[in-house]
Amino acid sequence: MDRATGSPCLSRWPPPVVAAMLLALAAFGPAAPAATETATAEVGATIYGNYCAACHGDGLRNTTGGATFDLRRLRPEDRERFVTAVLNGKNQMPPWRNALDMKQIEAIWSYLRATVDR
Ligand code: HEC
Repeated sequence: MDRATGSPCLSRWPPPVVAAMLLALAAFGPAAPAATETATAEVGATIYGNYCAACHGDGLRNTTGGATFDLRRLRPEDRERFVTAVLNGKNQMPPWRNALDMKQIEAIWSYLRATVDR
């Protein structure tokens, strides 16, 4: 009877594989919201740089003296106003409805909040 060596269940998944699976679970588990928020803000910073900075200023520093809206004036409760203005545009501000999706617009908002509310 030499079939009794080792448990078939454990030998199917070598310990390093099991450890990797647990790590992957931990990374996406509820323990990581802070890291996710930072990542979103960083994505938003890049999108802002590509689409908005030309008019609204590098790094949100608006130097147009009021020709364009200073986005740092938006308060946390102005999220609706922000999303609506970005989707639909306003006067000289072009609409972004067909250029950006909601995730990208939310990312810009995260970047704005992460920069202003510190
Ligand atoms: C071509 C220049 C230009 C670009 C590019 C631009 N904006 Fe604007 N934006 C403006 C101007 C001008 C206004 C002021 C509109 C007004 O009140 O007449 C404005 C206003 C706004 C407002 C305030 C609207 C309000 O409620 O009063 C928001 C929010 C905004 N822009 C967000 C963005 C975001 C986000 C981007 C990048 C996706 C962007 N803008 C890109 C020119 C621009």
